[in-house]
Amino acid sequence: MSTPHLSNEPWDAHLIRYGMPFANRLVERARGTLIWDSEGREILDFTSGQMCATLGHNHPRIVAAIQEACEGALHLFSGMLSPPVVALSQRLAALLPPHLTKSLFLSTGSEANEAALKLAKMHSGKFEVVGYTGSWHGMTSGAQSVNYVAGRRGYGPTMPGALALPAPNPYHCPVRHCRDACDGTCLEVGFDMVDAQSTGSLAAVIAEPVESSGGVIVPPDGYWRKVKAHCEKRGMLLIFDEAQTAFGRLGCDFAFQHFGVEPDMLTLSKTLGGGLPLSAAVISEAIEADCHRKGFIHPTSHVSDPLPAHVALAVLDVLAEEGLNARALAMGERLGAGLRYLQDKHEIIGDVRGFGLLQGVELVKDRDTRAPDAAAGRAITARCMELGLSMNIVSVGSMAAIWRIAPPLTVTPEEIERGIAILDQAIGEVAEGAKTA
Ligand SMILES: Cc1ncc(COP(=O)(O)O)c(C=O)c1O
Repeated sequence: MSTPHLSNEPWDAHLIRYGMPFANRLVERARGTLIWDSEGREILDFTSGQMCATLGHNHPRIVAAIQEACEGALHLFSGMLSPPVVALSQRLAALLPPHLTKSLFLSTGSEANEAALKLAKMHSGKFEVVGYTGSWHGMTSGAQSVNYVAGRRGYGPTMPGALALPAPNPYHCPVRHCRDACDGTCLEVGFDMVDAQSTGSLAAVIAEPVESSGGVIVPPDGYWRKVKAHCEKRGMLLIFDEAQTAFGRLGCDFAFQHFGVEPDMLTLSKTLGGGLPLSAAVISEAIEADCHRKGFIHPTSHVSDPLPAHVALAVLDVLAEEGLNARALAMGERLGAGLRYLQDKHEIIGDVRGFGLLQGVELVKDRDTRAPDAAAGRAITARCMELGLSMNIVSVGSMAAIWRIAPPLTVTPEEIERGIAILDQAIGEVAEGAKTA
């Protein structure tokens, strides 16, 4: 049984706890890579908020776009469109491959995935959806049904037809076959299992091109091409959920460009809104026409809202004008080099992986068994916060000690050096403390 989070902070009286413990300080200000607590202490934010502040906190262009939007309309009747929404749909279509032309603008990543799943089911006339172990697609019922990293227990049945494929994790091979280099066996075994379980109604595969909350899992070369071939063989749609990977974090506009495989449907969220709630499901004209004919409905209170669309246009401008894709790769090199230096120095770091500004560091009790060192992970993370670095341990279960390190794309070299120095100190102190205990 898990231990309930005990705390006596004043805010515990009237807020529902929703998973991770609340930080033991209130945050009052945020700019760029930095946040400040109510006592004025400066903290480096290596999680980009909840992975949304890719341009850094309160980027002046985002602030200006919010102010400009206030001169127009913030929110409208769901059936009314506004110039920023139309412009954003055009901008996305221009950035995306020719078959991804039709967008639906919603608020959260969960909502975009719900919409994509509904569209996939309505278009195909089938209902089975295959997700990945370690995936995170959201907290609404449909999206949560294909979440395999957390949140499945305690709420009764999931959406009928939810099936899983093993995530291609070379550090912990899901089928106990490879070590350090995935040869794709897990995919073949996975599809055999899917076929065995299917009732003959396979609609779609939904996947993060790089699994993020599941521990920063980068598939091997050619993996997504094989998945696409498996989907085509079975008449399934491939949906990429690029909540975290779109718009620069991996050094490209979309992760599917990096992997050379175009999805049939795409969902965007976190990084599109620059910190404001905005998401999109993007599909082809043919699928849109078919679903419209079949009666697709998805009006929400904030569908097609002008305010976040106005801000997203500024996000896309800043990404291009500040060359943030290239910057993410350059800063990612620097971050990766720092993390590998720490790996050489500290035995507890078993693996460093990822690229661009999405990097994973796995903490282990020993490098041979690779058993996670969750207790040390928690202690080091807490010490980092005291020293002024906010870090996030992602993932649960057998892999409970992985930092997902993802500073804003605007992070400076000095901030990276500072973050690495804090990590070095915190790991050293906790590891030394464990030796003398
Ligand atoms: C890949 C991915 N998809 C979807 C979501 C859900 O987005 P939201 O929390 O905005 O509903 C998340 C959230 O962490 C995510 O990481």
